[in-house]
Amino acid sequence: MRTVTITRDRLGRGPLILVNRSHPLRPAPPPECVPVDSRCPAVALEKQAAALLSACIQSLNGGAQIVPVSGWRSAEEQRRIWDETLHQEGEAFTAQYVAYPGCSEHQTGLAVDLGRAAPHIDFLRPDFPYHGIWGRFRAASVKYGFIERYQAHQTHLTGIAAEPWHFRYVGAPHAALMTEQGLCLEEYSGFLAQTPRRCVLDNGRAVEVRYVPCMGQETEISLPEEGCCQISGDNASGFVVTVWEAG
Ligand code: DAL
Ligand code: ZN
Repeated sequence: MRTVTITRDRLGRGPLILVNRSHPLRPAPPPECVPVDSRCPAVALEKQAAALLSACIQSLNGGAQIVPVSGWRSAEEQRRIWDETLHQEGEAFTAQYVAYPGCSEHQTGLAVDLGRAAPHIDFLRPDFPYHGIWGRFRAASVKYGFIERYQAHQTHLTGIAAEPWHFRYVGAPHAALMTEQGLCLEEYSGFLAQTPRRCVLDNGRAVEVRYVPCMGQETEISLPEEGCCQISGDNASGFVVTVWEAG
């Protein structure tokens, strides 16, 4: 085993960060984003999330029916969307469908809103059905690392109404674990803190996942000598450590 030292500022970085009204984004360099689809150059996502989303849509031949509507948003854009929605739709609607500025997953570059292709697509609440190609996307996206982030039965935990169109990249082992266990991101660190988990991905590769609490300015984390490792902050109290076992 080897030990790495992680500084506290890393709590707010990585694909597992929880971003919601009580967990605002921490100051960090802007994500490196690229367009998801050359036909919608204004909709960009963090590089890896963009590549995996495109791969998922392509695997279903869904490019003509699945449209990226909104991806990375700057703090200013999220503020503008909040202010405009508040003005046009009122407080109750805004609080249900728009994250408070500084508290939106869209500011991470890891979240995307997808719509069913149509002559008019609602920007805030695009239609993204549970049947047909859209339902098949929802099922397939898990193995590409995406979760349907705001589900109807979890609104008391997420603070956001059901949003069948909003997908969040967390990475394949985590999307699989959360989906299998029926957990939302608000619940995930606590679940891992109880006991480390192991899962086997579709490609047959085994992955170990554990939670390490942040111990102050510096946290020591032990990692195996072999295998591929990732350490992500949870933007709350610790780090999610993922180890893909050496094949
Ligand atoms: N619609 C989601 C909650 C956002 O504004 O981030
Ligand atoms: Zn969204």
